[in-house]
Amino acid sequence: MTDQSARARLDQLWARGRAFLGTGTAIMGGAMSWVSERHLVSAISNAGGFGVLACGSMTPDLLAAEIAATRAMTTRPFGVNLINMHPDLDRLIDVCREQAVGHVVVAGGLPSGATIRRIKDGGARAMGFAPTLVAGRRLVKQGIDALVIEGMEAGGHIGAVSTTVLAQEILPELREVPVFVAGGIGRGEAIASFLELGAAGVQIGTRFVCASESIAHPNFKQTFIRAAARDAQPSVQLDPRFPVIPVRALVNAGSKAFADLQRAVIARVDAGELTREAGILEIEHFWAGALRRAVVEGDVETGSLMAGQSVGMVTREQPAAEIVAELIGQAEKALAGRPPDKAMWEAPAVLGAA
Ligand SMILES: Cc1cc2nc3c(=O)[nH]c(=O)nc-3n(C[C@H](O)[C@H](O)[C@H](O)COP(=O)(O)O)c2cc1C
Repeated sequence: MTDQSARARLDQLWARGRAFLGTGTAIMGGAMSWVSERHLVSAISNAGGFGVLACGSMTPDLLAAEIAATRAMTTRPFGVNLINMHPDLDRLIDVCREQAVGHVVVAGGLPSGATIRRIKDGGARAMGFAPTLVAGRRLVKQGIDALVIEGMEAGGHIGAVSTTVLAQEILPELREVPVFVAGGIGRGEAIASFLELGAAGVQIGTRFVCASESIAHPNFKQTFIRAAARDAQPSVQLDPRFPVIPVRALVNAGSKAFADLQRAVIARVDAGELTREAGILEIEHFWAGALRRAVVEGDVETGSLMAGQSVGMVTREQPAAEIVAELIGQAEKALAGRPPDKAMWEAPAVLGAA
């Protein structure tokens, strides 16, 4: 395959994703709390990808200001990621409508039918995360416009299943809406493979953390650049009576302190000095504010270093446009190396006549 036909093949493979997002490439920059603000989001969109603002725990006024500031930095499409359990979710959806946001991604649990309707009534496209095929089908019935499936290789909050297994379970079965694959994608060859499996596009977080435009603290970026895949580990739960939300992050002194805290809480509950409920709350509160501390203040010792396993493929700081171009180049190279079109080797007579 020539370089030109490899690009044509890539464009054909992600045509559905590009049309859905309104972009030149179907690469979504996954929303990352504190990292995915105006600078990184606009840089990804300006590079031909699809930036997504992380609303996190922002108030409606802050979100409105961030959307307006992002729009001042790019004329290209970008989306907004809202957390399903945010107490002001309806108001945040209204802000997206007022600001004419084209795509709203709901994370942190399955959005209700009412949430999906509210997004769509406001004129935006609604996207959600499908942890299983059944959940994906339910969201489709409720009117979701597109899905993200995210494997446990990803950075941040994770499910239990790997990206490759989720992709095999869901992509061939669920064709009604575009499906974007996330989790552990660090190179373009993997993008090409997921597109060939039926994905409409991909969502990438970890690889964009060290984009030059990312406002993440230099300490945070350096930790990413130095880390290997095996340093990005899921949070550890010591006792099933005290649940821990699974989060993948780089191991640091905070991870050790978290295990120590769990041990101390378990001992106090077992000794009758603390109720189980109070113990669960203490464990839940341990990481509160910790991602902000790491990303914004650069506390990489006790802060939360949420990162996916693809962190090993983050080797330097580079502009978002260079990251996108690199991914596209790798995807094209992979496609160029595929055997020629089936029609050619099924018609030897035609080839012989040439
Ligand atoms: C530091 C960090 C913060 C994240 N915060 C959020 C978030 O606020 N909302 C969300 O839906 N996903 C969040 N994610 C997940 C990303 O949006 C994305 O789906 C994920 O990073 C994809 O996997 P990858 O890291 O292997 O590329 C976060 C990921 C990281 C690394």
